[in-house]
Amino acid sequence: ASVEKGNYRHFMQKEIFEQPTVVAQTLSSYLRQSDNSVALPQFDFDISSIRRVTIVACGTSYYAGMVAKYWFEQFARVPVDIDVASEFRYREPVLEDNGLSLFISQSGETADTLAALRHCKEQGQTIAAVVNVPTSSMAREADLLLPTHAGPEIGVASTKAFTCQLAVLAALAAHMAVTKGFMNRQEEQEVVEHLLEAPACLNAALDHDDDIASMAHLIAPARDVLYLGRGPDFPMALEGALKLKEISYIHAEGYASGEMKHGPIALIDDEVPVIVLAPSGPLFEKTVSNMEEVRARGGQIVLISDAEGLEEAGEGCMATIEMPKVHPLIAPLVYAVPVQLLAYHVACVKGTDVDQPRNLAKSVTVE
Ligand code: G6P
Repeated sequence: ASVEKGNYRHFMQKEIFEQPTVVAQTLSSYLRQSDNSVALPQFDFDISSIRRVTIVACGTSYYAGMVAKYWFEQFARVPVDIDVASEFRYREPVLEDNGLSLFISQSGETADTLAALRHCKEQGQTIAAVVNVPTSSMAREADLLLPTHAGPEIGVASTKAFTCQLAVLAALAAHMAVTKGFMNRQEEQEVVEHLLEAPACLNAALDHDDDIASMAHLIAPARDVLYLGRGPDFPMALEGALKLKEISYIHAEGYASGEMKHGPIALIDDEVPVIVLAPSGPLFEKTVSNMEEVRARGGQIVLISDAEGLEEAGEGCMATIEMPKVHPLIAPLVYAVPVQLLAYHVACVKGTDVDQPRNLAKSVTVE
């Protein structure tokens, strides 16, 4: 059956708003709610013997992989390599025995990612694929297929497939942590509980749609926009910048907050909006101090945070967006919403073709 836009102006908008539902759907196939444990689909290799994880993907799927690298290393204490697929094969990667190669793709057909999968398979790696299209080449060729249940994604810029990828990757990291003995039963239950809070938190983030739509008028005239984040929210800054570039054609860069003083700070003046992703948690104070450096140079800040006293922290900012209180584990999922909505509304202000941005394709099947 063909997919309809319903009451939405664009498929992308509809897909952003579907996230609470499709993330819940995806989580329900990986989490057993009777005992709050993680349950993966059947597979026939020993996950506890995996010594290294190699993640390969393109575009937004690559940023999901970057977030997952923090989780695999933090929870499962397994070293992770990650590359964009177009670089991976040509750098002659060293693949260890008992390595898991993990491919992330909405379409399951991206040419570079598929070629990387086949290369790793030839090298004897175990192949896992997080894929949204269950009949795709990657889905068929993987040893372990981890489907996302986002449903068909029509907008060229990926949104709901991305948050579903994050949901699956968090479950996989937790499962690996349990099998490797780095996460006990109680910790597993806590992780599962936090993941199950994600749909409600996504809904709460979506409640800011109107505020973000008005804020978009402040961003739309900009020539350059900078996104800052730390830890797992650094890839979210990259994803925010990518979304804005893709659909509004404004030049945007994502940077690790602490790295800003090694370059992009030279760009800051009162015409450069800086979007700061600052969930409360161990890295909050550090991000705020990087934000102060921007403010001291006249930068126009949009602070996205759930911190206590956001008013105070946001003093002198162009705008603040208050996020629901979330556990740091699910912050990347929840913070995806404001960056998607911001890109979406800026594109609407600029009148671009949101669902079919110029020069881009939904699925890139040539190298
Ligand atoms: C294209 C799309 C992006 C997507 C990327 C990777 O560039 O426009 O939205 O993130 O391909 O696609 P995949 O299907 O492999 O996730």
